[in-house]
Amino acid sequence: MEILRHVVLLVHLVGFAILFGAWVVEAAARRFQATRLMDLGLLIAFVAGVVLCAPFGRDYDFNWAKIGIKLGILVVIGALAGISRSRAKKNTPLPTWTFWLIGALILANAALAVIWR
Ligand code: HEM
Repeated sequence: MEILRHVVLLVHLVGFAILFGAWVVEAAARRFQATRLMDLGLLIAFVAGVVLCAPFGRDYDFNWAKIGIKLGILVVIGALAGISRSRAKKNTPLPTWTFWLIGALILANAALAVIWR
């Protein structure tokens, strides 16, 4: 069961890597827009994150406050990314600071995950 949990954690990290990697690519290309690849990374991180909340046969002591805040931040990232993509399609893009906010929120979630035990 512990191996299975580690596999799900790996999938969660792959989702994070896709999400943050896609964001860095857009920042480096100076496009400052959310992309479908970011949606995919977010979806993978979300599904694997929810599965990670299962006890996996052991009596885990979850930090539910941390998990709740991470979930809330993920919803805000998803909303910002969705609005950013639909506004870009209508040629009325969101201001650039919203793109930087998305990156900061992704990093905040990763920092919460590793720093707040
Ligand atoms: C952008 C969104 C997210 C990012 C960047 C992220 C990042 C991470 C990282 C880097 C870890 C590894 C921590 C470690 O093992 O030291 C982790 C673990 C974990 N994540 Fe996430 N996560 C996100 C969203 C979520 C969501 C939405 C949930 C639950 C609903 C969640 C639940 C968990 C759980 C249960 C663990 C393993 C146990 C723990 O360290 O708390 N994550 N996450």
